[in-house]
Amino acid sequence: MCGVVGYIGHRQAQANLLESLARLEYRGYDSCGIAVLDGSIRVLKDVVRVADLAATSEPLEGTSGIGHTRWATCGEPNQANAHPHYDCTRNIAVVHNGTINNHQQIKARLLAGGHTFSSDTDTEVISHLIEENYQGDLASAVRATLNQIDGSYAIAVIHHKEQDKLVVARCGSPLIIGLGEGENWVASDVPAILDYTKKVIFMEENELAVITRQGVRLWRDGREISPEIKEVEWTAIQAQKGGHEHFMIKEIREQPRIIRESNSVLAHSGGSDPGLIEILSSNPPPTILLLACGTSYHAGLIAKYLIQELLGLSVHIEIASEFNYQRHRISEDLGIIITQSGETADALIAMRSLRKEGMKLLVITNVPGCSASRLADETWYTRAGPEISVAATKSFTAQLKVIYGLLLSSSRLDRRDRDRLTGAFRHLPSNIQQIIDNHQDIQSCGKYLAGYNNVIFIGRGLNYPIALEGALKLKEISYIHAEGCAGGELKHGPLALLSAETPVVVILSRDATYEAMLNTIREIKVRGAPVIAITPARESDIDNLVDRVIHIPEVENLVSPMLNAVALQLLAYYTALERGCPIDMPRNLAKSVTVE
Ligand code: F6R
Repeated sequence: MCGVVGYIGHRQAQANLLESLARLEYRGYDSCGIAVLDGSIRVLKDVVRVADLAATSEPLEGTSGIGHTRWATCGEPNQANAHPHYDCTRNIAVVHNGTINNHQQIKARLLAGGHTFSSDTDTEVISHLIEENYQGDLASAVRATLNQIDGSYAIAVIHHKEQDKLVVARCGSPLIIGLGEGENWVASDVPAILDYTKKVIFMEENELAVITRQGVRLWRDGREISPEIKEVEWTAIQAQKGGHEHFMIKEIREQPRIIRESNSVLAHSGGSDPGLIEILSSNPPPTILLLACGTSYHAGLIAKYLIQELLGLSVHIEIASEFNYQRHRISEDLGIIITQSGETADALIAMRSLRKEGMKLLVITNVPGCSASRLADETWYTRAGPEISVAATKSFTAQLKVIYGLLLSSSRLDRRDRDRLTGAFRHLPSNIQQIIDNHQDIQSCGKYLAGYNNVIFIGRGLNYPIALEGALKLKEISYIHAEGCAGGELKHGPLALLSAETPVVVILSRDATYEAMLNTIREIKVRGAPVIAITPARESDIDNLVDRVIHIPEVENLVSPMLNAVALQLLAYYTALERGCPIDMPRNLAKSVTVE
């Protein structure tokens, strides 16, 4: 949700800022812009992608500046609303990720005081307030301004009279500072700076920093503190396409390796330092609250099923944004929050209120140093590497892998189930590789689905959440309306939608639901709807019953969601490819949803 960058050093800032912005485009791509200090402030901004701004923009001389890629919230995507924003005198430029709740009151007061505005954004009030508060020191003016605004922000600010510094601050939106020799960076996320440095300061809530070529001074709640410098593990190569046509297909193809590498993590998870997870083994049986959004919520639904079935514990799951508006709460023993980015506003709001209530919180996330990990008592990392494509793929299977790891950590898991899981995991990387290698059937199904406007996905038990996930993946990247539903629910309403124009993707599980699903397929077929079945290889009896079949390798049913998820990711990918959609950056979406 908007990417903020800044650079101060000895190189030309323009190229540096645009390269960093290109790496953050997954956060928003409605418009983009940069401001460079060249004695004065020069701004370039437009309703274009970063590559187009880079190709068409005039050269700006200057070795410091700020930049922004926008996901529009306040004010439609147009040139005037693109960041950076100025004050009246154009002495100050500001880029901002977040929301200013009291911007209307502030704007009314500023207008009455003679300020003129050139955009509809909430951000512009920040630059005008800084102008009003400026008395020769930018950092003091920013500090005074932040005391007047209510909302969330990661901001970077420059002033034409203070050419040797960037002033940055965070509250509710992420911001990191990258450290180099005689040069420093600021960015919303690590991939923006990986080409230049791995030394990072993860800014905390209510921190303000002054960044110069020589170093960084940091204040928290007004008090100066010494920055904690961390080394990030991610590499620049991981955040590049590496010859793949899209980030999404690259990230799908990375899954066998991620699962293979994780097998040692799973083994370790039963090891000597169980931490919070020992709650899963404690007596009396604990209760668990699971919270997540979107794809991560689907991983949570699978976690609920597995924890209930295999550990016999009671699990309550909620979409974080719904949970935040509930008045009456059951107080569970352990909260598990699943979030790829660790910056999803709805999840963070829930975490803050649960922390106040004193609940122990465990976070499953992919991003080192993210806000969720800082709010949690304990973090389990999915170690999937940077996920750039807006549609979550490898992070989902990596979340599932961690969830299986949690199960294996509990002494409540009986021996037989433990053996079933560990045995299945041994073959999982090659099983997933098989699906990726033999993708032709899936690709042909994708071409077929590309001609339809509505698709229904059904699954049962462990694979019901996979039906939801398959539908979400298809709708977000191919723009085909898709609905996921529980196999048994079809006859309670959605059946009314079926016709020759509405294909149904049926996910079959080799469990007690198999026969019931065959009956459901028959019910669909007599209504004339085409059926694509996703089924374990052995089930060849299905071939005559349906229109198309995607055979997946025969695996222990407990891990079948991992394989079905990969097959459906590929199905969505090839459908979107056939329709010529912008796969990595679907319209209206952004990765890391930092607004409520
Ligand atoms: C779908 C997708 C989103 C995210 C959701 C939660 O492909 O990516 O539905 O899953 O926005 O994001 P995280 O997991 O970062 O909290």
